[in-house]
Amino acid sequence: MRVFLTGGAGYIGSHTLLEILSKAHEVCVYDDYSNSAPVALMRVERLSNRTFQAVTGDVLDQGSLAKALVDFKPDVVVHFAGKKAVGESVAKPLMYYENNVVGTLSLLRGMEAAGCKRIVFSSSATVYGEPQYLPLDEKHPLAATNPYGQTKLMVEHILRDWCAAREGASAVLLRYFNPVGAHDSGQIGEDPNDIPNNLMPFVSQVAVGRRAKLQVFGGDYDTKDGTGVRDYIHVVDLAKAHAAAISYAEAHKGCEAINVGTGQGVSVLDVVKAFEQGSGQPVPYEVVARRPGDVAACYADASKAESLLGWQATRDLADMCETAWKWQSQNPNGYAAP
Ligand code: UFG
Repeated sequence: MRVFLTGGAGYIGSHTLLEILSKAHEVCVYDDYSNSAPVALMRVERLSNRTFQAVTGDVLDQGSLAKALVDFKPDVVVHFAGKKAVGESVAKPLMYYENNVVGTLSLLRGMEAAGCKRIVFSSSATVYGEPQYLPLDEKHPLAATNPYGQTKLMVEHILRDWCAAREGASAVLLRYFNPVGAHDSGQIGEDPNDIPNNLMPFVSQVAVGRRAKLQVFGGDYDTKDGTGVRDYIHVVDLAKAHAAAISYAEAHKGCEAINVGTGQGVSVLDVVKAFEQGSGQPVPYEVVARRPGDVAACYADASKAESLLGWQATRDLADMCETAWKWQSQNPNGYAAP
């Protein structure tokens, strides 16, 4: 199959790229490197021993995107390109609606011009809003609590309508829980631009000495140790879920939303302990006030992924922490030069 990846140089994109190259697909990456680095692609090339095309461009540049699609003629598009910081989306909502929603419309127009009818979309468990029950299955009501979440929800609606209107089209909406960890080589990993918003990159930067201590947001939740509980999923497992979704989209028509998680709830303090073990480094922390907008617990019912995609998470928390540490310790400044 010919696979077109928007945002293929990013954290999840680069791991998925490596995974699908191992399946012998022909690939074209489209990325503007606004939150990623070209060096990630060079490393994937080396690790995979394969070549692939790469086009530099913004999804909002409809001319450039349509040309790349028409030239490459993909069988399927995997759409990662988008903004993903919740706090930033509250401060800059228009930027989020423009990049994530208008960017997807631009992509769909380009796909129509190129005759491509299959898409795998990088959605998020954020579309469930505040959990009304746990574990979250795909039938849970949808709600968004911030502009970032709204954009994921809107794109899901757009893809569902697009699919219904186009004969033979298929869309797989992968609702990620909390992706963490890195490739076993330690050559590619998560490299946040600024101060990390997410737990695992923050913990890694504390362990490597880039930051003094972790702030644990809330110690008084109704959870086993009072800290927030999430469903952390190894990025390599997530990459394999994309490979399975590509095969699914090839064989099936219509639109399916599918959770991608382990089904296990893990607390912030569980992560801290596992990271200390995996890295051999101390992770000093202090418990501070809750972060506005956070929920106590969020984890997946991941059974639909197993029944439809034949996919299941295989990697545990220790593996997530060990690989995150391998990446962080080998690349203390991420992809930037030391
Ligand atoms: N946390 C801390 N300290 C930090 C960062 C996070 O204690 O410095 C805690 C949070 O309070 C939460 C847990 O660690 O309990 C996980 O927080 P993350 O920010 O890593 O992840 P979230 O679950 O808040 O958010 C993630 C994605 C969002 C997505 C959301 C819901 O980052 O994009 O899941 O699916 F919207």
